[in-house]
Amino acid sequence: MTSRNTVPSFEVETTSAPISDADRERALEQPGFGTQFTDHMITIDWSEEQGWHAARVQPFGPLPILPGASALQYGQQGFEGIKAYRHADGSVWTFRPERNAARLRATAERFYLIAPDDALFVESLRSLVAVDHEWVPQPDGEKSLYLRPFIIGTEQFLGVRPSKTVTFGLIAGPSGIYVGGLGNPVNVWLSEEHVRATIGGTGEAKCGGNYAAGLGAHAEAKTNGCQQTLFLDAETRTYVEEFTSMNVLFVTSDGHLVTPDLSGTILHGITRASLLQIAAEDLGMTVEERRVSVTEWRERVADGSFSEVFACGTAAVITPIGTLKARNFDIPPARHTGGEVTQALKERLTGIQYGHIEDTRGWMVKLRD
Ligand code: COI
Repeated sequence: MTSRNTVPSFEVETTSAPISDADRERALEQPGFGTQFTDHMITIDWSEEQGWHAARVQPFGPLPILPGASALQYGQQGFEGIKAYRHADGSVWTFRPERNAARLRATAERFYLIAPDDALFVESLRSLVAVDHEWVPQPDGEKSLYLRPFIIGTEQFLGVRPSKTVTFGLIAGPSGIYVGGLGNPVNVWLSEEHVRATIGGTGEAKCGGNYAAGLGAHAEAKTNGCQQTLFLDAETRTYVEEFTSMNVLFVTSDGHLVTPDLSGTILHGITRASLLQIAAEDLGMTVEERRVSVTEWRERVADGSFSEVFACGTAAVITPIGTLKARNFDIPPARHTGGEVTQALKERLTGIQYGHIEDTRGWMVKLRD
Protein backbone atom coordinates (compact mmCIF):
# COMPACT_ATOMS: atom_id res chain seq x y z
CA MET A 1 0.00 0.00 0.00
CA THR A 2 1.40 3.42 -0.86
CA SER A 3 1.19 6.28 1.60
CA ARG A 4 0.94 9.94 0.70
CA ASN A 5 2.51 11.35 3.75
CA THR A 6 2.28 15.10 3.43
CA VAL A 7 1.39 16.30 6.92
CA PRO A 8 -2.21 17.52 6.72
CA SER A 9 -3.12 20.49 8.89
CA PHE A 10 -5.19 19.61 11.94
CA GLU A 11 -8.67 21.01 12.34
CA VAL A 12 -9.16 21.64 16.06
CA GLU A 13 -12.52 21.30 17.80
CA THR A 14 -12.13 21.67 21.54
CA THR A 15 -14.61 20.09 23.91
CA SER A 16 -17.44 22.13 25.38
CA ALA A 17 -17.60 19.75 28.35
CA PRO A 18 -14.07 19.24 29.66
CA ILE A 19 -13.48 17.16 32.76
CA SER A 20 -13.50 19.53 35.73
CA ASP A 21 -10.18 20.76 37.14
CA ALA A 22 -10.93 18.94 40.41
CA ASP A 23 -11.64 15.62 38.64
CA ARG A 24 -8.57 15.99 36.45
CA GLU A 25 -6.41 16.70 39.51
CA ARG A 26 -7.84 13.60 41.19
CA ALA A 27 -7.04 11.54 38.10
CA LEU A 28 -3.50 12.91 38.04
CA GLU A 29 -3.09 12.14 41.72
CA GLN A 30 -3.95 8.45 41.29
CA PRO A 31 -3.63 7.76 37.59
CA GLY A 32 -3.41 3.96 37.70
CA PHE A 33 -3.21 2.79 34.12
CA GLY A 34 -5.52 2.88 31.15
CA THR A 35 -8.83 3.76 32.75
CA GLN A 36 -8.85 7.55 32.55
CA PHE A 37 -8.66 9.51 29.33
CA THR A 38 -7.95 13.10 28.46
CA ASP A 39 -10.51 15.53 27.01
CA HIS A 40 -9.49 15.15 23.38
CA MET A 41 -8.39 12.66 20.77
CA ILE A 42 -7.09 12.72 17.22
CA THR A 43 -8.26 10.98 14.10
CA ILE A 44 -6.74 11.14 10.62
CA ASP A 45 -8.31 9.29 7.72
CA TRP A 46 -6.51 7.65 4.84
CA SER A 47 -7.71 6.54 1.45
CA GLU A 48 -5.86 5.61 -1.68
CA GLU A 49 -7.28 8.60 -3.54
CA GLN A 50 -6.75 11.22 -0.83
CA GLY A 51 -3.80 9.91 1.19
CA TRP A 52 -3.89 11.20 4.77
CA HIS A 53 -6.69 13.72 5.18
CA ALA A 54 -9.34 14.99 7.61
CA ALA A 55 -6.84 15.36 10.46
CA ARG A 56 -8.88 16.36 13.48
CA VAL A 57 -8.26 17.14 17.11
CA GLN A 58 -11.70 16.59 18.59
CA PRO A 59 -13.48 15.90 21.88
CA PHE A 60 -12.75 12.42 23.27
CA GLY A 61 -15.65 10.14 22.45
CA PRO A 62 -16.99 7.23 20.38
CA LEU A 63 -15.52 6.60 16.96
CA PRO A 64 -17.92 6.38 14.05
CA ILE A 65 -17.17 2.92 12.69
CA LEU A 66 -19.35 0.72 10.52
CA PRO A 67 -20.18 -2.72 12.00
CA GLY A 68 -18.65 -4.49 9.00
CA ALA A 69 -15.31 -2.63 9.22
CA SER A 70 -12.28 -4.87 8.71
CA ALA A 71 -10.83 -3.87 12.09
CA LEU A 72 -13.92 -5.20 13.85
CA GLN A 73 -14.51 -8.28 11.71
CA TYR A 74 -10.97 -9.45 11.00
CA GLY A 75 -8.79 -7.59 13.47
CA GLN A 76 -7.08 -5.51 10.78
CA GLN A 77 -5.52 -3.08 13.23
CA GLY A 78 -2.37 -2.20 15.12
CA PHE A 79 -1.36 0.08 17.97
CA GLU A 80 1.52 1.68 19.84
CA GLY A 81 2.33 2.79 23.36
CA ILE A 82 4.43 5.90 24.00
CA LYS A 83 4.62 8.40 26.86
CA ALA A 84 4.87 12.15 27.36
CA TYR A 85 7.00 13.29 30.30
CA ARG A 86 6.89 16.65 32.04
CA HIS A 87 10.28 18.12 32.91
CA ALA A 88 11.02 20.34 35.90
CA ASP A 89 10.73 23.53 33.75
CA GLY A 90 7.19 22.53 32.71
CA SER A 91 8.11 21.48 29.17
CA VAL A 92 6.74 18.20 27.79
CA TRP A 93 8.88 15.60 26.03
CA THR A 94 8.56 12.18 24.50
CA PHE A 95 11.02 9.32 24.09
CA ARG A 96 12.25 7.96 20.74
CA PRO A 97 8.97 8.53 18.88
CA GLU A 98 10.53 7.63 15.54
CA ARG A 99 10.95 4.10 16.91
CA ASN A 100 7.22 3.85 17.68
CA ALA A 101 6.36 5.33 14.30
CA ALA A 102 8.58 2.79 12.56
CA ARG A 103 7.14 -0.09 14.58
CA LEU A 104 3.59 1.01 13.76
CA ARG A 105 4.52 1.04 10.07
CA ALA A 106 5.99 -2.47 10.42
CA THR A 107 2.75 -3.63 12.05
CA ALA A 108 0.80 -1.91 9.27
CA GLU A 109 2.82 -3.75 6.65
CA ARG A 110 2.10 -7.10 8.30
CA PHE A 111 -1.65 -6.45 8.08
CA TYR A 112 -1.65 -4.60 4.77
CA LEU A 113 -2.60 -1.38 6.51
CA ILE A 114 -1.04 2.05 6.37
CA ALA A 115 0.55 4.13 9.13
CA PRO A 116 1.89 7.68 9.29
CA ASP A 117 5.49 8.60 8.60
CA ASP A 118 7.63 10.01 11.44
CA ALA A 119 6.65 13.64 10.79
CA LEU A 120 2.90 12.99 10.87
CA PHE A 121 3.21 10.66 13.85
CA VAL A 122 5.11 13.25 15.91
CA GLU A 123 2.85 16.08 14.75
CA SER A 124 -0.16 14.12 16.03
CA LEU A 125 1.50 13.72 19.45
CA ARG A 126 2.25 17.46 19.51
CA SER A 127 -1.28 18.38 18.47
CA LEU A 128 -2.88 16.29 21.22
CA VAL A 129 -0.47 17.50 23.88
CA ALA A 130 -1.15 21.09 22.75
CA VAL A 131 -4.81 20.82 23.80
CA ASP A 132 -4.43 18.35 26.69
CA HIS A 133 -1.13 19.51 28.23
CA GLU A 134 -2.76 19.94 31.64
CA TRP A 135 -3.15 16.16 31.67
CA VAL A 136 0.62 15.59 31.68
CA PRO A 137 1.41 14.83 35.35
CA GLN A 138 4.02 16.76 37.31
CA PRO A 139 7.38 14.96 37.14
CA ASP A 140 7.82 12.50 39.98
CA GLY A 141 9.79 9.81 38.16
CA GLU A 142 6.77 7.55 37.92
CA LYS A 143 3.85 9.42 36.35
CA SER A 144 3.47 10.38 32.72
CA LEU A 145 0.86 10.80 30.01
CA TYR A 146 0.42 7.51 28.18
CA LEU A 147 -0.29 8.01 24.49
CA ARG A 148 -1.99 5.29 22.49
CA PRO A 149 -1.71 5.69 18.71
CA PHE A 150 -3.62 3.11 16.67
CA ILE A 151 -4.58 2.24 13.12
CA ILE A 152 -7.79 0.53 12.05
CA GLY A 153 -9.12 -0.74 8.75
CA THR A 154 -12.43 1.06 8.39
CA GLU A 155 -13.85 -0.26 5.15
CA GLN A 156 -17.03 -2.30 5.55
CA PHE A 157 -16.63 -5.42 3.44
CA LEU A 158 -17.02 -9.03 4.54
CA GLY A 159 -14.97 -10.68 1.83
CA VAL A 160 -11.53 -11.08 3.34
CA ARG A 161 -9.27 -8.50 1.72
CA PRO A 162 -7.42 -5.39 2.91
CA SER A 163 -9.46 -2.33 3.75
CA LYS A 164 -9.16 0.51 1.26
CA THR A 165 -9.69 3.06 4.01
CA VAL A 166 -7.79 3.45 7.25
CA THR A 167 -8.09 5.67 10.30
CA PHE A 168 -5.13 6.59 12.46
CA GLY A 169 -6.24 7.52 15.97
CA LEU A 170 -4.53 8.87 19.06
CA ILE A 171 -5.96 8.77 22.58
CA ALA A 172 -4.19 9.44 25.87
CA GLY A 173 -4.54 9.15 29.61
CA PRO A 174 -2.45 9.80 32.70
CA SER A 175 -0.42 6.81 33.77
CA GLY A 176 1.22 5.69 36.99
CA ILE A 177 2.55 2.24 37.77
CA TYR A 178 1.22 -0.31 35.29
CA VAL A 179 2.14 -3.43 37.25
CA GLY A 180 4.53 -4.23 40.11
CA GLY A 181 7.13 -1.57 40.88
CA LEU A 182 10.63 -1.69 42.35
CA GLY A 183 9.59 -2.89 45.79
CA ASN A 184 6.73 -4.99 44.50
CA PRO A 185 7.90 -7.88 42.29
CA VAL A 186 5.37 -9.38 39.90
CA ASN A 187 4.62 -13.08 40.15
CA VAL A 188 4.22 -14.70 36.75
CA TRP A 189 2.41 -17.77 35.48
CA LEU A 190 4.09 -20.07 32.99
CA SER A 191 1.70 -20.78 30.13
CA GLU A 192 2.37 -24.39 29.18
CA GLU A 193 -0.71 -24.80 26.98
CA HIS A 194 -1.07 -21.54 25.07
CA VAL A 195 1.62 -19.87 23.01
CA ARG A 196 1.66 -16.25 22.00
CA ALA A 197 3.41 -16.41 18.65
CA THR A 198 5.02 -18.66 16.08
CA ILE A 199 7.78 -18.03 13.54
CA GLY A 200 6.12 -16.46 10.51
CA GLY A 201 3.16 -15.38 12.63
CA THR A 202 2.39 -11.96 14.04
CA GLY A 203 4.44 -12.03 17.26
CA GLU A 204 6.61 -9.10 16.24
CA ALA A 205 3.65 -6.97 15.24
CA LYS A 206 1.97 -4.79 17.83
CA CYS A 207 -1.59 -5.83 17.13
CA GLY A 208 -4.56 -6.35 19.40
CA GLY A 209 -4.78 -10.02 18.41
CA ASN A 210 -1.46 -10.84 20.11
CA TYR A 211 -2.78 -9.49 23.37
CA ALA A 212 -6.24 -11.04 22.95
CA ALA A 213 -4.56 -14.40 22.31
CA GLY A 214 -2.91 -14.16 25.72
CA LEU A 215 -6.11 -13.52 27.66
CA GLY A 216 -7.08 -17.17 28.13
CA ALA A 217 -3.73 -17.81 29.76
CA HIS A 218 -4.10 -14.57 31.70
CA ALA A 219 -7.24 -15.91 33.34
CA GLU A 220 -5.26 -19.00 34.34
CA ALA A 221 -2.52 -16.73 35.71
CA LYS A 222 -4.99 -14.81 37.85
CA THR A 223 -6.47 -18.03 39.23
CA ASN A 224 -2.94 -18.94 40.29
CA GLY A 225 -2.30 -15.62 41.98
CA CYS A 226 -0.13 -14.17 39.18
CA GLN A 227 -0.42 -10.83 37.42
CA GLN A 228 1.32 -11.70 34.18
CA THR A 229 1.84 -14.75 31.97
CA LEU A 230 5.13 -15.97 30.58
CA PHE A 231 4.95 -17.41 27.07
CA LEU A 232 7.38 -19.97 25.65
CA ASP A 233 8.48 -20.62 22.08
CA ALA A 234 5.82 -22.47 20.12
CA GLU A 235 8.13 -25.08 18.61
CA THR A 236 9.84 -26.62 21.60
CA ARG A 237 7.97 -25.06 24.55
CA THR A 238 11.37 -24.69 26.17
CA TYR A 239 12.58 -21.14 25.67
CA VAL A 240 11.35 -17.99 27.33
CA GLU A 241 9.79 -15.43 24.94
CA GLU A 242 7.93 -12.61 26.68
CA PHE A 243 5.28 -11.78 29.24
CA THR A 244 1.72 -10.71 28.49
CA SER A 245 2.81 -7.13 27.88
CA MET A 246 6.51 -6.89 28.78
CA ASN A 247 9.93 -8.16 27.67
CA VAL A 248 12.02 -10.22 30.12
CA LEU A 249 15.65 -9.63 31.18
CA PHE A 250 18.07 -11.50 33.46
CA VAL A 251 21.02 -10.00 35.34
CA THR A 252 23.92 -12.32 36.03
CA SER A 253 26.14 -12.13 39.07
CA ASP A 254 29.15 -11.45 36.79
CA GLY A 255 27.68 -8.37 35.10
CA HIS A 256 25.84 -9.69 32.05
CA LEU A 257 22.38 -8.63 30.96
CA VAL A 258 20.67 -11.49 29.17
CA THR A 259 17.43 -11.34 27.19
CA PRO A 260 15.75 -13.51 24.55
CA ASP A 261 16.89 -12.55 21.07
CA LEU A 262 14.44 -11.09 18.57
CA SER A 263 13.84 -14.35 16.79
CA GLY A 264 10.77 -13.22 14.87
CA THR A 265 8.22 -13.93 17.58
CA ILE A 266 9.07 -11.28 20.17
CA LEU A 267 7.96 -7.68 20.25
CA HIS A 268 10.80 -5.28 19.46
CA GLY A 269 10.48 -3.41 22.73
CA ILE A 270 11.78 0.16 22.61
CA THR A 271 12.38 0.11 26.37
CA ARG A 272 14.15 -3.23 25.91
CA ALA A 273 16.45 -1.84 23.18
CA SER A 274 17.17 1.31 25.19
CA LEU A 275 18.03 -0.64 28.35
CA LEU A 276 20.40 -2.92 26.45
CA GLN A 277 22.20 0.16 25.14
CA ILE A 278 22.29 1.86 28.55
CA ALA A 279 23.55 -1.35 30.18
CA ALA A 280 26.39 -1.73 27.69
CA GLU A 281 27.38 1.93 27.28
CA ASP A 282 26.70 3.44 30.70
CA LEU A 283 26.96 0.52 33.11
CA GLY A 284 29.69 -1.41 31.29
CA MET A 285 27.64 -4.60 31.25
CA THR A 286 27.93 -7.35 28.67
CA VAL A 287 24.70 -7.74 26.78
CA GLU A 288 23.63 -11.19 25.57
CA GLU A 289 20.66 -11.54 23.24
CA ARG A 290 20.07 -15.27 23.03
CA ARG A 291 17.69 -18.04 23.89
CA VAL A 292 17.05 -18.62 27.60
CA SER A 293 15.31 -21.82 28.67
CA VAL A 294 13.09 -22.23 31.71
CA THR A 295 15.60 -24.82 32.90
CA GLU A 296 18.40 -22.26 32.71
CA TRP A 297 16.19 -19.79 34.65
CA ARG A 298 15.53 -22.42 37.33
CA GLU A 299 19.14 -23.61 37.66
CA ARG A 300 20.72 -20.18 37.62
CA VAL A 301 18.33 -18.72 40.18
CA ALA A 302 19.09 -21.77 42.35
CA ASP A 303 22.88 -21.32 42.10
CA GLY A 304 22.66 -17.52 42.38
CA SER A 305 24.19 -16.77 38.98
CA PHE A 306 20.93 -15.14 37.81
CA SER A 307 20.89 -12.49 40.50
CA GLU A 308 17.99 -10.32 39.29
CA VAL A 309 15.11 -10.95 36.89
CA PHE A 310 13.00 -8.07 35.65
CA ALA A 311 10.54 -7.08 32.97
CA CYS A 312 10.28 -3.92 30.93
CA GLY A 313 7.96 -2.11 28.57
CA THR A 314 6.66 1.38 27.85
CA ALA A 315 3.72 1.01 30.20
CA ALA A 316 5.55 -1.07 32.79
CA VAL A 317 8.89 0.80 32.59
CA ILE A 318 10.87 -1.70 34.72
CA THR A 319 9.48 -4.07 37.29
CA PRO A 320 11.20 -6.89 39.14
CA ILE A 321 9.89 -10.41 38.61
CA GLY A 322 9.13 -12.48 41.69
CA THR A 323 8.12 -16.14 41.54
CA LEU A 324 7.59 -17.96 38.27
CA LYS A 325 4.76 -20.40 38.92
CA ALA A 326 4.12 -23.42 36.74
CA ARG A 327 1.77 -26.40 37.07
CA ASN A 328 4.37 -28.67 38.65
CA PHE A 329 7.06 -26.37 39.99
CA ASP A 330 7.84 -22.84 41.13
CA ILE A 331 11.01 -20.86 40.51
CA PRO A 332 11.53 -18.52 43.47
CA PRO A 333 12.61 -14.90 43.04
CA ALA A 334 16.28 -14.38 42.20
CA ARG A 335 18.46 -13.60 45.22
CA HIS A 336 18.75 -9.86 44.52
CA THR A 337 15.32 -9.26 43.01
CA GLY A 338 14.74 -5.54 42.52
CA GLY A 339 18.42 -5.04 43.29
CA GLU A 340 21.28 -2.82 42.22
CA VAL A 341 21.20 -3.37 38.47
CA THR A 342 17.41 -3.20 38.12
CA GLN A 343 17.50 0.04 40.10
CA ALA A 344 20.44 1.54 38.20
CA LEU A 345 18.81 0.82 34.84
CA LYS A 346 15.51 2.30 35.96
CA GLU A 347 17.22 5.38 37.36
CA ARG A 348 19.18 5.99 34.17
CA LEU A 349 16.26 5.41 31.83
CA THR A 350 13.75 7.49 33.76
CA GLY A 351 16.44 10.09 34.49
CA ILE A 352 16.79 10.65 30.74
CA GLN A 353 13.03 10.60 30.21
CA TYR A 354 12.29 13.10 32.98
CA GLY A 355 15.26 15.30 32.10
CA HIS A 356 17.42 14.73 35.22
CA ILE A 357 20.14 12.98 33.23
CA GLU A 358 21.61 14.49 30.09
CA ASP A 359 20.22 12.92 26.93
CA THR A 360 23.48 12.35 25.07
CA ARG A 361 21.88 10.11 22.42
CA GLY A 362 19.19 12.46 21.13
CA TRP A 363 16.42 10.17 22.33
CA MET A 364 14.15 12.90 23.68
CA VAL A 365 11.85 14.96 21.45
CA LYS A 366 10.15 18.08 22.77
CA LEU A 367 6.39 18.21 22.35
CA ARG A 368 5.71 21.50 24.13
CA ASP A 369 7.71 24.35 25.73
C1 COI B 1 3.01 -0.71 26.31
O1 COI B 1 3.87 -1.00 27.13
O2 COI B 1 2.92 0.43 25.84
C2 COI B 1 2.06 -1.69 25.84
O3 COI B 1 1.55 -1.52 24.77
C3 COI B 1 1.73 -2.80 26.73
C4 COI B 1 0.32 -2.93 27.10
C5 COI B 1 -0.26 -1.97 28.02
C6 COI B 1 -0.54 -3.55 26.10
